[in-house]
Amino acid sequence: MSENITIHHYDLTREKRNNRNQHKSFVLWFTGLSGSGKSTIANKVEAALFEKNKQVYSLDGDNIRSGINKGLGFTKADRYENLRRIAEVAKLFVDAGNITVAAFVSPTYKDRDLVKNIIGEKDFIEVFVDTSLEECERRDVKGLYKKARAGEIKNFTGIEAPYDAPKNPDIHIKTEEKTVDQAVEEILNHINTLI
Ligand code: PPS
Repeated sequence: MSENITIHHYDLTREKRNNRNQHKSFVLWFTGLSGSGKSTIANKVEAALFEKNKQVYSLDGDNIRSGINKGLGFTKADRYENLRRIAEVAKLFVDAGNITVAAFVSPTYKDRDLVKNIIGEKDFIEVFVDTSLEECERRDVKGLYKKARAGEIKNFTGIEAPYDAPKNPDIHIKTEEKTVDQAVEEILNHINTLI
């Protein structure tokens, strides 16, 4: 009896969920400097996909760093652990049939290789939100660059800690050359070829 119940649960596969949703599931992984526009673009992409009746869910700093990853900071080791856990969670969301939107600095090649390996290469779409450090610092929406320059924040990405620009992203958004809506459109067009 319990064996049958177990079999019944495992029988509900990702493929079945994808078939019912009438689309594939995968991760759209946004990487870029703090203040580059990752969350702004990711938010709009999520909303647009929802409007098109897609099963979609966003993982972002608020629901991760104040929840499952509460207590992790910004050393290399903490970022690596932060991203490892996020990748594991993202993998579950993909298995549950979601187009999963993740927006994290994910600064180094090592970090993003880890994420890609956990999620699986075919389910990992890398979106590079390419905004120069100068522009991020000029915008300084959260006032963090000013604090980092004043030495009040340690290990700030781009100031004291490295950011490795992706060499071959699936989608490359140069935010200084286009509007947010154009960026969203470009991403949606790319997704249309995958779904
Ligand atoms: S990481 O590197 O992927 O683990 O970072 P992430 O989880 O995306 O968190 C980035 C947000 O945390 C704030 N913050 C910092 N960012 C970079 N470096 C340091 N030292 C730091 N301290 C706090 C910052 O608001 C980032 O948010 P975004 O949305 O990227 O601006």
